[in-house]
Amino acid sequence: MTTPSMIDLFAGCGGMTIGFAAEGFKPILAVEWDKAAAATYAANFGEGHVIPGDIAQVSDEEIPEADIIIGGPPCQGFSNLGLKNLDDPRNQLWREYMRFVAKAHPKVFVIENVDRFSKSPEFQMLLAEADHGALREYELRFGVLNAADYGVAQRRKRTIIIGSRIGAIELPAATHDRQQEGNRQPWKTLRDVIGGLPAHPASTELPDSRGEFFGELMPGVFTGLDLHIRRTPTLKSLDRYSFVPPGGGRFDLPAQLLPNCWANKPTGTTDVMGRLRWDSPSVTIRTEFFKPEKGQYLHPQWERGEWVDEFGKHRGNPAKSVDRVITHYEASLIQDFPHDYRWVGTKIQIARQIGNAVPSGLARAIARQIRPYFDEASLISEPLERQLALIG
Ligand SMILES: C[S@@+](CC[C@H](N)C(=O)[O-])C[C@H]1O[C@@H](n2cnc3c(N)ncnc32)[C@H](O)[C@@H]1O
Repeated sequence: MTTPSMIDLFAGCGGMTIGFAAEGFKPILAVEWDKAAAATYAANFGEGHVIPGDIAQVSDEEIPEADIIIGGPPCQGFSNLGLKNLDDPRNQLWREYMRFVAKAHPKVFVIENVDRFSKSPEFQMLLAEADHGALREYELRFGVLNAADYGVAQRRKRTIIIGSRIGAIELPAATHDRQQEGNRQPWKTLRDVIGGLPAHPASTELPDSRGEFFGELMPGVFTGLDLHIRRTPTLKSLDRYSFVPPGGGRFDLPAQLLPNCWANKPTGTTDVMGRLRWDSPSVTIRTEFFKPEKGQYLHPQWERGEWVDEFGKHRGNPAKSVDRVITHYEASLIQDFPHDYRWVGTKIQIARQIGNAVPSGLARAIARQIRPYFDEASLISEPLERQLALIG
């Protein structure tokens, strides 16, 4: 078995690297300009190969040859204007990406991006580069994958592009689905990943500790239940949460509890102040999952109580309901981070790292699909006698 070397660009806290490292890829360079995210990455994979800065400031001399590059530039927008060529100043991050591909000359690259990416001018530019530009050696395969279809307890759709110069590599087939068709397994649920955690976390704060990364002291390192922190909602907020059943949201609130902004907006934004469901995967975890007004992030535990308001709305039974948002720890598990992942940063920084990550189960499925091509490619480069010996 070979150990292909890997560069992770826009590495964040390392979600994608977890999946690729688990399949035997060896990280030799990671670039990430958010210092706290880079420090989390370093706390788990080592600091020596991390550049905690702007990709544009990495010199050509610092780019090693590598077997694979993973990670894609964040998308700038979805307007129909401009961005169609690499010289557009808004395309700087793509130019940087191409520079890394040209210098490291990987056998394969993997780009992940938002699900709408295929509607962006950046995507058109990428196709053009693969057709007759800097990426013309590479065959592309792309599509939108849902993390839930790969054993992650979360519905999260991402565009994945695999570029390869060692033979076209198809996207991995789903291993899980909602209905459990064929030999696929059923979607993982919230109960599978966060059931059994303490319903009422003791602390509202991360422990008071500091660690040094890149010569700077930063909050951390935190792990496991350190991240299981509750918030301190007002009584009015608690009152609101108590009316929201699993799968419900702001439309379940009695009129007198509706904030003005929602009362004046009778349609749309249906998932705000929503409550998750135990027996489904979660909705997409975003960077502000700790704010119930941002999505369906209330804890799934709720049982209908006796009390009904004048419009027939039911409050939950307080003894059998958990009226809080999910904790950082729960969000990290839903994002498929290991229980013992090590985290660096403030509460807000860590939430951003969690919400921005590629769930490791999705990354691992992609890595597992790509990995055999490296073994075959390395075999072909061996002399015939040795190839035969290796095949046995
Ligand atoms: C979607 S997140 C990456 C998530 C990561 N792949 C993971 O799985 O955890 C994109 C990252 O790009 C970083 N980034 C954006 N512009 C950058 C730049 N110019 N140089 C380095 N990093 C940058 C952001 O800080 C962010 O962490």
